[in-house]
Amino acid sequence: MATAYGGPEVLSVVDVEVPAAGPGEVLLDVRAAGVNPIDWKLYSGAVGTDPARLPMRLGLEVAGVVLAVGQGVEDIPVGDHVIATGVVGGYADLVLVPVANLAPKPAQVSWAEASGLLLTGGTAWHTLDATGVGDGDVVLVHGGSGSVGRFVIQLARLRGAHVIATASDATHAELRALGAVPVAYGPGLADRVRAAADAVGPVTVAIDTVGTDEALDVSVELVADRSRITTIAAFARAGELGIQALGNGPGADPGAAIRAAAIPRLVELAADRQLHVAIARTYPLEDVAQAHRDSIAGHARGKLVLLP
Ligand SMILES: NC(=O)c1ccc[n+]([C@@H]2O[C@H](COP(=O)([O-])OP(=O)(O)OC[C@H]3O[C@@H](n4cnc5c(N)ncnc54)[C@H](OP(=O)(O)O)[C@@H]3O)[C@@H](O)[C@H]2O)c1
Repeated sequence: MATAYGGPEVLSVVDVEVPAAGPGEVLLDVRAAGVNPIDWKLYSGAVGTDPARLPMRLGLEVAGVVLAVGQGVEDIPVGDHVIATGVVGGYADLVLVPVANLAPKPAQVSWAEASGLLLTGGTAWHTLDATGVGDGDVVLVHGGSGSVGRFVIQLARLRGAHVIATASDATHAELRALGAVPVAYGPGLADRVRAAADAVGPVTVAIDTVGTDEALDVSVELVADRSRITTIAAFARAGELGIQALGNGPGADPGAAIRAAAIPRLVELAADRQLHVAIARTYPLEDVAQAHRDSIAGHARGKLVLLP
């Protein structure tokens, strides 16, 4: 947990009493907990420094085994393998989760992969629904090698879209394997994207998972219809540009219903191996500060996962 606001040095692993599962809850033996940039943003001070929120338990998504169920939980047996998102304090050996937040873990998917499926997958699904991506669209994804970006690529391809993805050179082969045309970000980006789109037609949708001015400026330069441009990371400029901001930032559409409805589809696609969760690195729980330093560095290239 974070015991103060600051950098990863404020994180520590502490022993706490775990209450019994209450009505409508299950107690999970956590096998893997996905790390997301929002986890370190929450204690960085970027979204406020309210002392009442400390100490802050971290970890929004996990995969684990049901150890006990509370009153009224009838359809989830002890021993079930599940995934959960919207969790409070998932970086832990044990965590209590409301049943509404659970989905079945497909046997074909590892614990680490399962723990990284729902939050970023649901976000990617939301960006595609909000921009109406369908067959024949030409989609530009900024940050294609990131966790959200890789889901955007795969899900857009499943909808029949062409995908051009910005990323560092080192990841281009992986993104090609996912079905995207990779381009390097940096000066000259708009021209490189135009060249990449030459064979398929103009870019019709832009999805920004990075939040840089470059990503937003290139998006509005290349996409004629601003309602088909979205960002999940640059909330302030989204308003100025008249593009869609998605998620929990100021002025953004949280899309809770869309993200919830995506969960069974994401599970099904992962079980069918049509959707892959790339794991960049796993860490024991004690190394949570290192996991956050790696996430903050901004080039994780797949999910970072804690294995309690
Ligand atoms: N609003 C929401 O609902 C929501 C939900 C989930 C995440 N988010 C936010 O979305 C962002 C991405 O999340 P994530 O989990 O995908 O992060 P991530 O896995 O850490 O990926 C970050 C990506 O950013 C790329 N990148 C770094 N610097 C760049 C630059 N200057 N230009 C272009 N790309 C650059 C990196 O690509 P290379 O390594 O190839 O350089 C990397 O692939 C975070 O800010 C996160 O907080 C928002």
